Amino acid sequence: MKGLRLLLKLLLVASTLGTQGQRQVYFREEFEDGDGWKKRWVESKHQPDYGKFQLAAGKFYGDKEKDKGLQTSEDAKFYALSARFTPFSNVNETLVVQFSVKHEQGIDCGGGYVKLFPATLNQEDMHSESKYYIMFGPDICGFGNNEVKIIFHHQEKYHVNNRTIKCKINKDTHLYTLILRPNATYEVKIDNELVISGELEDDWDFLPPRKIKDPYARKPRKWDERPQIEDPEDKKPEDWEDFEFIPDPEAKKPDDWNEAMDGEWEEPLIPNLKYKGQWKPRIIDNPNYQGEWVHPEIDNPEYKPDPTICHYYNISVLGLDLWQVKSGSIFDNFLLTNDEEFAEEVGNNTWGLRKDREKQWREVYEEIQKKKQAEEAKKKREKEKEREDDIWGLDEEDSEEDLEEEQGNDGQMLEDGAARAFRKNEL
Ligand SMILES: *[C@@H]1O[C@H](CO)[C@@H](O)[C@H](O)[C@H]1NC(C)=O
Ligand SMILES: *[C@@H]1O[C@H](CO)[C@@H](O)[C@H](O)[C@H]1NC(C)=O
Ligand SMILES: *[C@@H]1O[C@H](CO)[C@@H](O)[C@H](O)[C@H]1NC(C)=O
Ligand SMILES: *[C@@H]1O[C@H](CO)[C@@H](O)[C@H](O)[C@H]1NC(C)=O
Ligand SMILES: *[C@@H]1O[C@H](CO)[C@@H](O)[C@H](O)[C@H]1NC(C)=O
Repeated sequence: MKGLRLLLKLLLVASTLGTQGQRQVYFREEFEDGDGWKKRWVESKHQPDYGKFQLAAGKFYGDKEKDKGLQTSEDAKFYALSARFTPFSNVNETLVVQFSVKHEQGIDCGGGYVKLFPATLNQEDMHSESKYYIMFGPDICGFGNNEVKIIFHHQEKYHVNNRTIKCKINKDTHLYTLILRPNATYEVKIDNELVISGELEDDWDFLPPRKIKDPYARKPRKWDERPQIEDPEDKKPEDWEDFEFIPDPEAKKPDDWNEAMDGEWEEPLIPNLKYKGQWKPRIIDNPNYQGEWVHPEIDNPEYKPDPTICHYYNISVLGLDLWQVKSGSIFDNFLLTNDEEFAEEVGNNTWGLRKDREKQWREVYEEIQKKKQAEEAKKKREKEKEREDDIWGLDEEDSEEDLEEEQGNDGQMLEDGAARAFRKNEL
């Protein structure tokens, strides 16, 4: 009886303490239970032809089972898939958004980001216009357009980061982490290394600027901004010849010159042998130089601090709402928590443990692929030559089928070969 009462008391104390300060894991998905994810993730039906996600580890990986994630499987498609969790708020709490993505296909144009949605989202109708709170992750399209986008919803508008954060564009798996703190600072890490940090207010246009140029300040009329001037003391020498041409002193007016008909006679011009070019005074440092005038700033009367920036309530869905030209990206290791250090540890124990093996395997895979391609090209050349030599030719359709079959087998052999070579490498 006594024990029970004590327990109840303790529970009461615990509940009044609330959840603040304790580690919270709001969502974690590492796809470790086979087809189980199909029950947790909902495909949108907003469009009839969204691309299909499949569970796969890809062509190379650190661990065939543990590295399975959601892979986009169809080219030139929109994708819309999401998972729901118990609603939470990040007010007065740190929020960490973390996931890994591998663009093993060599992505040319496509999204690699996640979105966090409010509980009101209808997952079956999720689409690119659905209201979201946060979008975070790499977005790649075309040469040089490879950035980490961070978009926040605030007062019915979306605000995108105005400092550029480059993302990774190679084929390896990378870990992306966004940390939002209650003191309105943020951090982005890629592969558990800090790439950018700052204050939310400074790097998104949530609010008007804190300071503005004083509209009443004017540059004084006499403010001297010229670092150098012509020397006023310098004078043109008396004997300076600055006529490039002079009248020929030896020319004579022709005898038959008729002033009435021909106009007044003038000596023809000849080059002046003493010509020294245009005289210019020498340049000296301006003794009155005052430096560039700086417009004084004042506090912006329009500015009001807003403590609710990035305060979200009922965060409840994580979605992949993407467009991909070339498919093959694999998303894995999703984590939403309030604990920065825990997120780093989870990153270390998932992506971090397997990244080196994956990279080794990728290198072997690419090596074998290169060889196979060279062989195929050679075979093709030989076949073409045979065809040219054979005056009767071959049945077109048959030969194409042959080629397809062969390539299919080669593809399988290539993967087996890479796996074998990699295992051998490991021993
Ligand atoms: C956040 O903290 C402030 C100041 O301690 C408090 O007034 C407020 O109620 C808290 N809000 C939530 C949602 O916990
Ligand atoms: C915000 O919080 C972080 C982590 O608690 C701390 O390291 C940082 O100095 C704080 N920054 C400001 C501007 O308060
Ligand atoms: C980003 O936006 C803030 C707020 O509007 C502004 O003060 C800052 O100058 C901008 N920074 C850049 C690099 O554009
Ligand atoms: C969060 O969701 C609950 C349950 O639907 C609702 O009662 C509450 O008003 C929501 N809170 C906010 C701030 O939207
Ligand atoms: C994660 O790994 C890095 C590199 O090994 C290490 O420096 C860091 O302390 C680890 N972090 C945690 C939280 O375990």
